[in-house]
Amino acid sequence: MSRALGFGSVATAYERYRPGYPPELVDAVLEYAGRPVATALEIGAGTGKATRAFAAHAIEITATDPDEAMLAVLRRHVPGVTTVRGAFGDLPLTTTYDLVYAAAAMHWTRPEGRWERVAALLVPGGVFASLGGPLDLADPDLAAKVAGARAPYLASDDIPSPDGTPEDSPMRWPGTELTASPLFTDVRQVELPSPTVLSRNDYVGLLSTISAWLELPPTVREAALEAVRDVLPEQVDLRRDLTLHLARVVGDP
Ligand SMILES: C[S@@+](CC[C@H](N)C(=O)[O-])C[C@H]1O[C@@H](n2cnc3c(N)ncnc32)[C@H](O)[C@@H]1O
Repeated sequence: MSRALGFGSVATAYERYRPGYPPELVDAVLEYAGRPVATALEIGAGTGKATRAFAAHAIEITATDPDEAMLAVLRRHVPGVTTVRGAFGDLPLTTTYDLVYAAAAMHWTRPEGRWERVAALLVPGGVFASLGGPLDLADPDLAAKVAGARAPYLASDDIPSPDGTPEDSPMRWPGTELTASPLFTDVRQVELPSPTVLSRNDYVGLLSTISAWLELPPTVREAALEAVRDVLPEQVDLRRDLTLHLARVVGDP
């Protein structure tokens, strides 16, 4: 099982423990679009954490994901959305949308032809939006303790930047690639800090849905989660620095 396709095995836990997205996310996308957004294609929709935020704005959404178990949960929580099973690189390029977006999913897509495919799925002047960001412990001392407890089982659960752009550079991936692409214009990076407080149990539940943890053999994963649980306080503060990248496909609106 590849790291990108492990989420379905924990689809119910994913829905239970992963935090949703703030309404400001959709507001920022719609404000950037500057014109009505009637249709959208979502890449890697998972259980629909972002889908429900966009669906609240009466946008006709086609939610896609390669994992049927994730889509089954999405259909239960976001009725009325069209779902299509498929990896982004395999989706047919037969329809165009006002908006193409992805939340915590773009880095899992095949790099070859990625931006050409996004551009082909947009109406002229249509908008692409990609949201992501780490769920870091706010307290550096606690983060060090947790890293120490995890280390015998798992060295790191970070997801490296697909093009190697460092986390502290002014423009991060995929903004870097969108800026370099002749297919897109007006590339912007918007920070959406979204601090979250979780109970100890919910934080451990959240860790159990992260791809690097899913790759561990089940007994090792359980031992690692227990080791982390042992050093956590009852309430855990998370920084959750969400970053939104926006771009407009070249072409007259
Ligand atoms: C971290 S989850 C994000 C799910 C959801 N967008 C959210 O924000 O909660 C990543 C999702 O990307 C999907 N995925 C993996 N490989 C993909 C690919 N090649 N194309 C599209 N989606 C993919 C996984 O099945 C999973 O549902």
